[in-house]
Amino acid sequence: MDAQIYRMMSTGASAAKSATLTPGLVRRVWSFAHAYRARTFGFLAIVVVESFLGLAPPLVIKAIIDDAVPKDDRRLVTVLAGIMIVVAFLNASLSMVERWLSSTIGEGLIYDLRSALFDHVQRQPIAFFTRTQTGALVSRMNNDVIGAQRAVTGTLGTVVSNVVTLATTLVAMAVLEWRLTGLSLLLLPVFLLPAKRVGRRLAGITREGFDLNASMNTTMTERFGVSGALLVKLFGQHDRERDGFADRAARVRDIGVRSAMYSRTFVVALTMVGAVGTAVIYLIGGRLVISGSITTGTLVALGVFVAQIYSPLTSLTNARVDLMTAFVSFDRVFEVLDAPNPITDHPDAVELVAPTGRIDFDAVTFAYPSGAESSVTSLESAAQLAAPDLGSGPVLHDLSASILPGELVAIVGPSGAGKTTLTQLVPRLYDTTAGAVRVDGHDVRDLTQASLRAAIGVVSQDPHLFHETVAENLRYAKPGATLAEMEAAARAARIHEVIAAMPDGYDTVVGERGHRLSGGEQQRLAIARMLLKDPAIVILDEATSNLDSENEAAVQEALARALEGRTSLVIAHRLSTITDADRILVLDHGRLVEQGRHADLLAAGGLYADLYRTLVRADRTAP
Ligand SMILES: Nc1ncnc2c1ncn2[C@@H]1O[C@H](COP(=O)(O)OP(=O)(O)O)[C@@H](O)[C@H]1O
Ligand SMILES: [Mg+2]
Repeated sequence: MDAQIYRMMSTGASAAKSATLTPGLVRRVWSFAHAYRARTFGFLAIVVVESFLGLAPPLVIKAIIDDAVPKDDRRLVTVLAGIMIVVAFLNASLSMVERWLSSTIGEGLIYDLRSALFDHVQRQPIAFFTRTQTGALVSRMNNDVIGAQRAVTGTLGTVVSNVVTLATTLVAMAVLEWRLTGLSLLLLPVFLLPAKRVGRRLAGITREGFDLNASMNTTMTERFGVSGALLVKLFGQHDRERDGFADRAARVRDIGVRSAMYSRTFVVALTMVGAVGTAVIYLIGGRLVISGSITTGTLVALGVFVAQIYSPLTSLTNARVDLMTAFVSFDRVFEVLDAPNPITDHPDAVELVAPTGRIDFDAVTFAYPSGAESSVTSLESAAQLAAPDLGSGPVLHDLSASILPGELVAIVGPSGAGKTTLTQLVPRLYDTTAGAVRVDGHDVRDLTQASLRAAIGVVSQDPHLFHETVAENLRYAKPGATLAEMEAAARAARIHEVIAAMPDGYDTVVGERGHRLSGGEQQRLAIARMLLKDPAIVILDEATSNLDSENEAAVQEALARALEGRTSLVIAHRLSTITDADRILVLDHGRLVEQGRHADLLAAGGLYADLYRTLVRADRTAP
């Protein structure tokens, strides 16, 4: 009983309060469960059969007392006792089959929903990820998926089983003795009304506990990450952190005690009503037996039955909340599954074959999409939602430029000018607001994303490595790459020596929690990864400050090799990259203000000349 109540309350806890159960939602859930239709019917059929079997023991007991015993019929006693054993065996086998069905349906649904969610989410455009809280998304994948599964197996099974048990038991009781049955029902309101209130209170405090737990989780993941731990230490805030955390932990403790007492009240009340109900049956029934209006067997059977009706009644009192909660989870899962993906291949998208690497920006205007266009509201943080989302306004204005195959183009401009944004339009991380980006003469929206991205290698300022071995990180670019190929790429990127010196060489685990690589080493590994991909176009966001001079020289050498024979778009901060470029694009406030070779731009004495002088001064004063 305790377990049942706990299950009931914990599902109730994550419920959205204002949800409604629309026919559309029910239909959609049903269509999702369609693959399991046969099994679901089988499961429900077994549940019904089990409820009917529950009627047998009291009736058999009645037969023993009323028929077999008075007639001294030993054979009938044996037969009836045998029936009880058979029923028990039947019940046991059915229960195994029922559990197998419900778990294959439930786990199957979890599998379906999870795979669908993961795939849908990973294909979302990058704008989705910039606005979404990862924690909320992960909880959607775990808690809500499990909650949704409960709708189909747990809740549905419980409701059907309880309704059938209740109905059959009441009918059996009424047939045996309708007056006594009516009498035992008189007690019900005494119990049901408080039960409903206690149930609601319990759901409320359990929800509060869940919220507090979630907030403690967020704090822990944040404070126990390396950067968070560092911040706490450097600002000497250990005591404040402890107090804040202890405060919430204390509230969770108090809620735990309160909810334990509430649920015990529930159980105690139920037991009391059951006991009183049974006593009333025997009180009145005993007199009826003495006066000869009913048999002893009938009285005993009624006594057993009456104890059986209270438990399903309790569950059914809260069934609506229970069912609603489960459907809310489904709703929350569908909400993510329905998030539109504006960046998809259009039906007759073509493959980009043997790209030469020509890029045209044709009157490109671009504004970052607003939250409403790019994310699921409930996955954003409250702070994000509180701020009015007016959209960013255009970040690039009517920008046109052509980049020829094999050309090395440097993009320079003040911070915030739109350099990174411009390069992100080439692999179609975002779509232009107006105008077009063309690769080899094809609008990028007319190409398949897979072939477009295969043609482009990006090395960002802060290259990400997965928490996997060096070899696995490299093979991400080319799954079948041999060790020889990987070594060649690593040598070209000037990182082979570093890898070879690591504890397990190419099998060393790197990434956030693995072997720590310096900023320059990470960039060179990212360059090796890009070389394995062998793209026609290279986009490079040069690191500004996180490289020491030795690393900088190595990265520089690696790049000289990497960019050979490829169209290169380099967001340049180093003097040498800029002066060596075939062409320089100068961006300011999202506009292309100058373009040309270094000498010409310097002579023109515009924005570039200013930027260049600042860079030269910085270079001289650098250690
Ligand atoms: N994800 C984003 N959403 C909204 N605005 C952004 C986003 N990323 C950058 N911006 C804005 O776009 C402008 C250009 O940014 P960016 O291209 O990163 O500049 P740069 O690389 O030249 O320093 C900036 O004003 C910046 O605030
Ligand atoms: Mg940038």
